[in-house]
Amino acid sequence: MSKNVRIVFWIFFIGLITLASCSLRPSKNFQSNETVKAEHMDSDLIIVGFSQLGSESDWRTANTKSIQNAFSKKNGFSLIFSNGRQRQENQIKAIRSFIFQEVDYIVIAPVTETGWDTVLQEAKQAGIPVIIVDRMIETEDDSLYVAWVGTDKYAEGSRAGQWLEQHLKGKNNDTINIVVLEGTPNSTAQIGRSKGFEDIAKKHKNWNILARENGDFTKAKGKEVMEKLLQKYDDIDVLVSQNDDMTFGAIEAIREMGLTCGVNGDITIISFDAVSEAFDKMEEGLINVDIECNPLQGPMIAQIIGRLERGEKVEKISYVTGKVFEAERASRDRIGRSY
Ligand code: AHR
Repeated sequence: MSKNVRIVFWIFFIGLITLASCSLRPSKNFQSNETVKAEHMDSDLIIVGFSQLGSESDWRTANTKSIQNAFSKKNGFSLIFSNGRQRQENQIKAIRSFIFQEVDYIVIAPVTETGWDTVLQEAKQAGIPVIIVDRMIETEDDSLYVAWVGTDKYAEGSRAGQWLEQHLKGKNNDTINIVVLEGTPNSTAQIGRSKGFEDIAKKHKNWNILARENGDFTKAKGKEVMEKLLQKYDDIDVLVSQNDDMTFGAIEAIREMGLTCGVNGDITIISFDAVSEAFDKMEEGLINVDIECNPLQGPMIAQIIGRLERGEKVEKISYVTGKVFEAERASRDRIGRSY
């Protein structure tokens, strides 16, 4: 064999081996992706990965149920659900796993506003449309999500302030001492409700915000923080509690201190969400007013996906509306409510 013929032979031989090993060993990712996807493949179902931020409140439970019901097989969906347990890193892991599983859509209820750009870039590169629900994200690139669905948290905070204005109307101008139980720091619900309320509070010289403390949107933390506030201040007139679960904890703390709250009580209570137990408490006169945040967002998200599937344009921002419920009319207003 001449030198040239030997070279050609070796090139041909090595090429043959490389080709054989490629066809015998398909990429690991490809195989695993297909296996995982097959579990959720049911003919024509649309596969949706939903990263819920946690299960911290009654509101969250109602929100999860609404989304699970809307994304049922009966409605043409296969839902992969992940609970982030109030930690952004868990949510980011879940989103990466949805990308890996090649879902058709990703729905995210983000725990806090910042820190989503990198993972959302990854979803964009994978060509998976993202829908944000409930809370918002802070980003300079709004092409990272196709739509957002939720309530106006700033308006909720303002409604709380406007209710207090009306409640105090005609009364003397004595100082009104206010404490605020805030939700998870840097979450849209905390930022919006704080700002909305404070913008109204600023207009009233006699409204004195004694403290703003984080109760993390949970009953346990709400109770713990309220106990400390009651030990520190003996002249609290108003509690603004940014969700019902913290309010339930705070009521326990107030009563254990031998104080009263709500209609005719020592401490006026303004709460947010308007879940079923809050209506019980309003009927008992323990909460004065509840600013609704409607958790029933599943059908709206499913509708948006339906439109995207048909190639139609969708609204970038869709608001879910809410009302203000007062103790005096709670028994009538709760009729027909499902959460
Ligand atoms: O983002 C909505 C808020 O989150 C609800 O008010 C609260 O209950 C929940 O934890």
